Amino acid sequence: MTQALLQTKGLQLAFGGVVAADNIDFELHEGERLAVIGQNGAGKTTFINICTGFIRPSGGSVSFDGRDITRLTPRAIVQRGISRSFQLPQLFLEHTVRDCIRLAAAGRSGKLRIWTPLGKVIPETEIDHILELVNLRERADELCSLLPEGQRKLLDIAMALVLRPKLMIMDEPTSGVSTDEKHGLMAIIMRVLDEQKITSIFVEHDVDIVTRYATRVAAWISGRIAADGKPDEVLNNPEIRRNVIGE
Ligand SMILES: Nc1ncnc2c1ncn2[C@@H]1O[C@H](COP(=O)(O)OP(=O)(O)OP(=O)(O)O)[C@@H](O)[C@H]1O
Ligand SMILES: [Mg+2]
Repeated sequence: MTQALLQTKGLQLAFGGVVAADNIDFELHEGERLAVIGQNGAGKTTFINICTGFIRPSGGSVSFDGRDITRLTPRAIVQRGISRSFQLPQLFLEHTVRDCIRLAAAGRSGKLRIWTPLGKVIPETEIDHILELVNLRERADELCSLLPEGQRKLLDIAMALVLRPKLMIMDEPTSGVSTDEKHGLMAIIMRVLDEQKITSIFVEHDVDIVTRYATRVAAWISGRIAADGKPDEVLNNPEIRRNVIGE
């Protein structure tokens, strides 16, 4: 098999007595769409935080594209090609949608200085194109604070896309959105990722969404990967049905 795009070996992390990462060995290959499932507190966000440099593991390593990234900063990891979105969108609420894209683009080069005019960070045509991809072009000049939750989620994704990732990691892209809206939201996100040939990991609690959009599922229980494989295998695994899906 080809070299893994993302690989972790023996990841360990505990918060006090809580083991949030328990010896995690994991590989992801280009083109995969991995759904991460698991009960609250299982360690899904911790895994993402470790892979994106927001927290350091106490043991083990992460590599991306064959290079060790365990001790890099979040910005250095973005520059290697991993973008993420957040469980709660990290927007600049008092700014416009367009400015949020500019601010995100400023992190792309890492060269933004306080005196660089924000208008020069990214061409307007590129902003328009990215907003078009996520159906937000019409709202470009509105304040983020006016967007409903579903559009905030899309803007968070657009801000991650502007960084031109090879891998996009999304922490609950459909949380806080009504069940009716979830499929529409995921359809937009997945269409864009497909078009741009971006490999993805998404955390999701809704089994229908997982079944519809994932090519692979990994189930977390108490900081470890309890099952990992094809969606129907993992979702029909009795341990996962009992302890993760809650039947
Ligand atoms: N910064 C922190 N300080 C202390 N404990 C933490 C910290 N971050 C996570 N934890 C604990 O580690 C465990 C794993 O948390 P994590 O946020 O990774 O879970 P999760 O699977 O993302 O859950 P959820 O579905 O609720 O988002 C939990 O018990 C959580 O309380
Ligand atoms: Mg979480």
